[in-house]
Amino acid sequence: MPFATAAAAACSTATATACTAAAVTAPVPGPAAVSSLAEPLPVLGLDVTVPLASGHRVPYAALDQAASAPVLRQVWDEVAEYAPYYGSVHRGAGHLSRLSTELYEDARETVARFLDCREDDQVVFTRATTDSLNLLASALPAGCRVYVFETEHHAALLPWRGAEVTLLDAPGGPAAAVAALERALTAREDDGPALVCVTGASNVTGELWPVRELAAVAHAHGARIVLDAAQLAPHRPVSVRDLDVDWVALSGHKLYAPFGAGVLAGRADWLDAAEPYLAGGGASRQVVRREDGGLDVEWHTGPARHEAGSPNVVGVHALASACRALTEASPALLAEREQALLDRLTEGLAALPGVRVLSLFGDEAPRVGVVSFVVDGRDSAELAERLASSHGIGVRAGLFCAHPLVRHLLGGRRDEAAECGETGGSPLNAVRASFGVGTPVEHVDRLLSALADLIHETA
Ligand SMILES: Cc1ncc(COP(=O)(O)O)c(C=O)c1O
Repeated sequence: MPFATAAAAACSTATATACTAAAVTAPVPGPAAVSSLAEPLPVLGLDVTVPLASGHRVPYAALDQAASAPVLRQVWDEVAEYAPYYGSVHRGAGHLSRLSTELYEDARETVARFLDCREDDQVVFTRATTDSLNLLASALPAGCRVYVFETEHHAALLPWRGAEVTLLDAPGGPAAAVAALERALTAREDDGPALVCVTGASNVTGELWPVRELAAVAHAHGARIVLDAAQLAPHRPVSVRDLDVDWVALSGHKLYAPFGAGVLAGRADWLDAAEPYLAGGGASRQVVRREDGGLDVEWHTGPARHEAGSPNVVGVHALASACRALTEASPALLAEREQALLDRLTEGLAALPGVRVLSLFGDEAPRVGVVSFVVDGRDSAELAERLASSHGIGVRAGLFCAHPLVRHLLGGRRDEAAECGETGGSPLNAVRASFGVGTPVEHVDRLLSALADLIHETA
């Protein structure tokens, strides 16, 4: 980075100050030995203590990372390093404006490399996955039919309101998912535009979806496919080229870069042909007042078309920084470490009486570090609350903005109502524990022993 040397001294002071403000007292206890594994990547927040109902404080165990992940230290440091050099993007003639513009456009290239995009793909910066998928929904060609499994997160299930939507039933396994899509696309009565939307990893079960195979089926039938990588990218490398998906969407705040940026990357044609997602400065190349008093607008093509307004250069820089950090850290070692934590968690849960881990594809199906479960006779919301108030553990309870999927997994009726983000009241809810590249083994162990306590206390 051009400002790196000059900024280094100022930045280390800024970082230290900011971190001291967030940090509190006791360090995290040493992890149980999983000694052959790579070290967790450094993240902020491990030394933050939280109050318990007892009045004591304990270090917080952040096990709700599928919602939002802690910030990587490298990301935080690079953001702090850039902060004094912050300036407007795409407009100023001044040095810092030019530097910020360069940083913003460099970030686009970093993200394109991270996602292994094709040469002519576009990387559009958005606010998050929901925004990215809504942007794509706004760019669908006329008459486009969308194919989506009922098991998707609402961000992938709901944006397609202007299109004809074919909702596919929850499949019993990856092969069944591919077969269901094949059947649905074969039954298509026209050869108009079509789009398949699928997640890479479920935000409820953590299970990996057969993205490459679904992409092959989509393309064989002349359809396109968008990958919702909100849960996949924080855990596994995503290659647009290798998976052969047309677009990919992700969120910075789930990728250890919580500064409000997201990505839609992929094919340019539908995006360039669509009306701008937002109308305003930056998206317009030229605006001319006509004789009749109206306006003629010439819109940009390329990412600028859908990035009207002042861009979130800090968020985008943070996102690019996370992409670099994850690539440099060796994805294979990170995946190996995650698998060891996952095994520890699922084996521990299996040993607890009355605990049922939710799974669509079967217990042996590969998954990322996202595990939802229910405990016989216990309300999940109450369990999550007790994990927080008695043990300082942050998990989530509810239907995880994937109502049809959770109802299916819990055997509820499809039409049963519940609110998104709901934490109480409905028996149709589950507990979700999710971790990431910075999670210490101790957090998983603490969750298991806390659950054992809570289960035995009512036995
Ligand atoms: C699989 C999946 N897709 C999309 C989203 C939406 O992401 P965001 O809230 O960052 O827009 C989430 C959020 O939890 C998710 O888990």
